[in-house]
Amino acid sequence: MSRVSEYLEREERVIGKVIGIRFYPIVVERASGSRVWDVDGREYVDFSSQWAVMNLGHNHPDVIKAVKDQMEKLIFSSHTTFPNTAAIQLAEKLVELAPGDFKKKVWFGLTGSDANEFIYKIMPIYNGRRRILGFQGSYHGQTMGALSLSGHKSLARFIGFPNVVKAPYPYCYRCPFKQHYPECGLLCLDFIEGNVMENAPADDLSAAIIEPVQSDGGVIVPPPEFIPKFYRICKDKGVSFIVDEVKVGFGRTGRFFAIEHYDVAPDAISMAKPMASGFPLSAVVGRAEILDAAAAAHLFTSSAHPISCAASLATINTIMKDGILEKASRMGSFLMKRFKEMSEAHELIGDVRGSGMILGIELVKDRRTRIPATFETACLVYRAFELGLLVTYVGAYSNVVEITPPLTMSIEDAEKGLEIFEKALDDVEKDRVDKMKVRRFAGW
Ligand SMILES: Cc1ncc(COP(=O)(O)O)c(C=O)c1O
Repeated sequence: MSRVSEYLEREERVIGKVIGIRFYPIVVERASGSRVWDVDGREYVDFSSQWAVMNLGHNHPDVIKAVKDQMEKLIFSSHTTFPNTAAIQLAEKLVELAPGDFKKKVWFGLTGSDANEFIYKIMPIYNGRRRILGFQGSYHGQTMGALSLSGHKSLARFIGFPNVVKAPYPYCYRCPFKQHYPECGLLCLDFIEGNVMENAPADDLSAAIIEPVQSDGGVIVPPPEFIPKFYRICKDKGVSFIVDEVKVGFGRTGRFFAIEHYDVAPDAISMAKPMASGFPLSAVVGRAEILDAAAAAHLFTSSAHPISCAASLATINTIMKDGILEKASRMGSFLMKRFKEMSEAHELIGDVRGSGMILGIELVKDRRTRIPATFETACLVYRAFELGLLVTYVGAYSNVVEITPPLTMSIEDAEKGLEIFEKALDDVEKDRVDKMKVRRFAGW
């Protein structure tokens, strides 16, 4: 029996299913840069960055050094009562980096869900309005407030809190209004403004939360005018404009924050995943009045962990000194071009879209009807794994392969990953994948 199988059997006995979404059998032992090795020594190219966390690649030396130095000085001090220097320095940096010419402050947590839980809890306290607008298809996390803000099908089994209204996200490839961009004139936005917000009602809407690229919803990039226009509508109605940068912040799209592609200043930004290159950390950066809206109202003992904060300072420093934003834009354009070329040769690919180094490859049974190729997507991701590439899938129909490699990926690793991806695609199209094996993994 392989060590992977042995560990997975042991895992099955002691770790509950509630913790995971599984696409194939893997148990990771070590990783470096864009490569990952399992416990049997099999090597993989990582096109997922472990759900877009390892933006600098695995085990980046700058992060290791910063963490070691911090560990020698101070492993833990609960910021709730005994503030630590790394957290204060990091907050100063984030305030400087976040767009918006107004006084900002920071809150720290441990994972994306608790940052969006902040939005759910604190925004109504801040402006006295009780309701919040979220988007269909969005994924903001698994705690009660965060899942209530979400519109992702994986969270539909939970009822959530009733004070959140949901608007359609501009998913142009599958427009709910059967329109075509740009001739549509953004009819969806008229609907959101005139219908969803007015009936909320707008004067009781505290905030609207939006992902600049809706990632788990299917890597959907809004048309260019959508976010600036939606921002204006929010401002006109006195609704705070919040962006969830948990997955797309820290350079993923080629800007430090994805919202910087637009000339807007969010009232608050939630962030997490890549912030500390794998150490648990989240934050909300926003208007000082929001962050000061209520004392001791959203605190966790281990928030602002000194080691995570030191790792985050090193992450930011490396992004800036190594020109990671430019690299991400360049490599993102290269990947986009290569996947578009691949789509010309493979009917299964219905759409290729993305921003910087987050790309979505949407698979369809037929390009005309656009029927989602859901099982084929599971097969593709599984086959890619067998061939040595780690990718996952997302989307309302579980038919979008999400490509989020480390931003530091070399051209050789990118080529290797692309080659495996295309081979896996070919195997799916030629029915050469063992479907019984794939069916054992439910994905999501
Ligand atoms: C956009 C977005 N927000 C929030 C979350 C929740 O973050 P976490 O899983 O770290 O709690 C995720 C996780 O996938 C996400 O993609």
